Amino acid sequence: MNHRAGLFITLEGGEGAGKSTAAARLAEVLRAEGLTVLATREPGGTKGAEAMRALLLSTTITLDPMAQTMLHFAARADLVETVIRPALARGEVVICDRFYDSTMAYQAYGLNVDVSAVASLTRLINLHPDVTFILEVSESTANERRKVRNGATDRYEEMGADFMARVAHGFRAIAAAEPRRCALIDAEQPVEAVVAAMRRVIRERTRR
Ligand code: TMP
Repeated sequence: MNHRAGLFITLEGGEGAGKSTAAARLAEVLRAEGLTVLATREPGGTKGAEAMRALLLSTTITLDPMAQTMLHFAARADLVETVIRPALARGEVVICDRFYDSTMAYQAYGLNVDVSAVASLTRLINLHPDVTFILEVSESTANERRKVRNGATDRYEEMGADFMARVAHGFRAIAAAEPRRCALIDAEQPVEAVVAAMRRVIRERTRR
């Protein structure tokens, strides 16, 4: 069953699209309007899912793509059942930095896991975003943004340009297949313009 009381918004995109900054800014904007906003991320958002995240993003522990898929969904199940569904039932706005579309783009399109396996697990989760923003940037912008970000690279950042191109193609295919749920956002723009575009789409599609 989809929830009815709250509003479930997800942000998607490849590496360096500026999702996390945009998600945080969107949460601030909606809070300033008086809405109660719960901002979370995937993989992660609960103690158990954050522990799974460490394994998923590890560059030293290999994991078969199907195992990655199931572990992403295990982390998702914990976050959905213990955090997201209760918040939506309370009528809150939930903003999640990545959700099941990332598994379709990264594991199915990127790593050749069977699309129908990802679709089956998605059905089991049985919670669909009201609006999904897919942030798009050029490869050069993504590379620039990744460079300015300090810290070690993770499993997926190490995969290379061909992988990221398949992921980007996956996100575009998802947006084309589900235009009522998904909105492509030009994330080459400054973050304030990105957030304004997202706010407009939320108003148009949900009247909130
Ligand atoms: P991020 O939080 O910095 O975006 O890192 C999460 C990484 O995990 C990112 O490279 C995308 C990847 N990922 C998947 O491969 N599949 C998934 O289902 C999710 C949620 C993330």
